[in-house]
Amino acid sequence: MITVLGWSGVVLLFVLGTHYVLRKLAKSSLTYHGTFKQLSKLSKKIHPFIGILLLAIGLLHGNMALGRLVLHTGTILWSSVLVMFLLIVLFKSLKKGIFLKMHRVFAVVTFLLLGLHLFARNIV
Ligand code: HEM
Ligand code: HEM
Repeated sequence: MITVLGWSGVVLLFVLGTHYVLRKLAKSSLTYHGTFKQLSKLSKKIHPFIGILLLAIGLLHGNMALGRLVLHTGTILWSSVLVMFLLIVLFKSLKKGIFLKMHRVFAVVTFLLLGLHLFARNIV
């Protein structure tokens, strides 16, 4: 179950990451607009829910794997996703674009942390 939840989280993280790529493809003149526009629209709708689902799955997986709150690459990865959530809350409430930009920067950070969690899990 720990494994299933962990890999489900990885899939969700990749779906979340495609949000940016899909929007770029939908706007590009090189790609077929219709399909990517629709996919991009769908992504915009479901993206926040997938993000929250990832937080829940990550919490469950982490709790099953370790059962207590400790400093671990998993905890750090999960905290990064939480920061992303909080940045969107700030973006929505203060209407400042900088928070959306930081959300994008944290997407890169989150993927790097995922790499750490997968390949150097017990480094901390
Ligand atoms: C944790 C919950 C999350 C929530 C509530 C959330 C919500 C949002 C929202 C509302 C937007 C703006 C969408 C738009 O107007 O098109 C956005 C953009 C984006 N999100 Fe998330 N997101 C979450 C997690 C994540 C995660 C974990 C990733 C990937 C690691 C991610 C990657 C992105 C990217 C790449 C963008 C585009 C940023 C830009 O255009 O500057 N999000 N997110
Ligand atoms: C965004 C959240 C997370 C994702 C996507 C994720 C993903 C994964 C993946 C894919 C594995 C490999 C599973 C396997 O091959 O068996 C794994 C293992 C593990 N994760 Fe996470 N994880 C997340 C959060 C956490 C958290 C919060 C913790 C705990 C603090 C944690 C602790 C562990 C541990 C201890 C293992 C090794 C489990 C074992 O070998 O039995 N993870 N994680």
